[in-house]
Amino acid sequence: MKKSKLPPIIIDTDCGHDDAMAIMLLVKSRMFDIKAVTTVAGNSSLDKVTNNTRYILDLLESPAPIFSGCDKPLKRDQILANVHGKSGLDGANVKKSEPLNGLAVKKIIEVVRANPGQVSIVVIGPATNIATAFNKDPKLPQLIKQLIIMGGTVEAPGNKSRVAEFNVFCDPEAAQIVFDSPVKKIINPLDVANTMPMFLADFEKLKGTKLYKPIMSMMRHFIKGIAKFELTKGALMYDPLAAYYLINPAACQTELMDMRIETKGELTYGMSVVDRRKYGQKSLNVEVITDINRDSFVRDFVNIIRK
Ligand code: RIB
Ligand code: CA
Repeated sequence: MKKSKLPPIIIDTDCGHDDAMAIMLLVKSRMFDIKAVTTVAGNSSLDKVTNNTRYILDLLESPAPIFSGCDKPLKRDQILANVHGKSGLDGANVKKSEPLNGLAVKKIIEVVRANPGQVSIVVIGPATNIATAFNKDPKLPQLIKQLIIMGGTVEAPGNKSRVAEFNVFCDPEAAQIVFDSPVKKIINPLDVANTMPMFLADFEKLKGTKLYKPIMSMMRHFIKGIAKFELTKGALMYDPLAAYYLINPAACQTELMDMRIETKGELTYGMSVVDRRKYGQKSLNVEVITDINRDSFVRDFVNIIRK
């Protein structure tokens, strides 16, 4: 089989509304060789997020293979999101149930080892699959090009607990394994997503495309969910903004930071704790996106989905 010249990526997702937009962005960009889409429980149960992933890839007519992964966190009790509704993708006409082949972790290891130093993994759900792969194959972090992670906060309050962002709060032990690993990590924290929602008027620019109707239906539900549970106007594009780093890194400002995950605190469990002191030894383990040019993001999002 002819080897693709496009950079290989894996998308690891708990497919909710924003994940769906991130998957659309990456697939429609035609910039990447999507080796695998691996699913993990998070926004909703593993079966629902896997069915939702199948629905989105079918909408895109994408041949990317789906591999289901972990159905619960490494250690803590399972928690689910509210904003995405009962199906985890309300507003989408999800009919098919995708078999759970349980191959996500095996495939992540296989794909990375077959393409050493080349694979970017877009981690837009809890880090359970990635941490499990690292536990199974301790050398894996050195073989991955980079992780692009939607997770954590720097100064913004949490969106699942008073201090913790949802993906990290869902599986703090997995996040700690990943954040403490030596692989290059680009982090898109809540701080950025909170400042640049998209509105129905932005999605209206997709009118006339095949994806317009399903996207409008999903985004209407998502915007209602965000308004109800986050008391915020608009669609918070957590995951597409993380994916956008791969598409247009020049539009993203970043800063190296020392960010650790709290796994012991009663009130701070799942908090991403940044050492902002001006003194003292730092271990700059993550590159955090501190700003993204909103006009570029919306313009590129619309142009790519319109392709
Ligand atoms: O906190 C936002 C993150 O949690 C996003 O990835 C969203 O899809 C949910 O998984
Ligand atoms: Ca997600």
